[in-house]
Amino acid sequence: MKFFVDTADTADIKALASSGLLDGVTTNPSLIAKSGRKILDVVAEICALVPGPVSAEVAATDYDGMMREAAVLRKIAANVCVKLPLTPDGLRACKTLTGDGVMTNVTLCFSAAQALLAAKAGATFVSPFVGRLDDLGQDGMELIADIVQIYDNYPALTTEVLVASVRHPIHVVQAAKLGAHVATLPPNVLRMLYSHPLTDKGLAAFLKDWAATGQTIA
Ligand code: G3P
Repeated sequence: MKFFVDTADTADIKALASSGLLDGVTTNPSLIAKSGRKILDVVAEICALVPGPVSAEVAATDYDGMMREAAVLRKIAANVCVKLPLTPDGLRACKTLTGDGVMTNVTLCFSAAQALLAAKAGATFVSPFVGRLDDLGQDGMELIADIVQIYDNYPALTTEVLVASVRHPIHVVQAAKLGAHVATLPPNVLRMLYSHPLTDKGLAAFLKDWAATGQTIA
């Protein structure tokens, strides 16, 4: 499973990328706004930090406007993935851009039918938002199960399921059990994946016993 980080905070991205375990980055207009920076500057900096796909979202809602913005975004770096909303115009732009060899991420997916359309439009990634469905009292993971099952039925579909709106590590584990290709995680959730109190407790005990031996290794 690939791990992307869902942020436009370049300090966080730099720190997380040093692990060697980060496969890409996703941003959205809200995250760019939170960064307080210009989209072109921040996306260029992220693309230089992480070699994998970096999603940068269009703000236009009509096909021509999306195509104009995509032309600007794709010029930033070879690893830019143009993020488009799951609307008729967004899917039309997705189809055109995919045909032109551009990576695409179709976002704001909330149903299996929408995910099927995104795959037919040739999206590189589709982003179902599990947390926002959970917030409404629906099971976001059921949507992931449905999409994975549907895509598996049609091996010609190459779209990867990118689990978004992830709130906690259980979402990540459930998505991995279902075979989702990618999860994009807020930095705090990505850091939580490392943690277990028994790891900390066990390491403290090992270090105490080791110190008592008086030995060194190097
Ligand atoms: O970037 C898309 C998605 O991950 C946003 O998540 O937390 O705003 O629902 P959230």
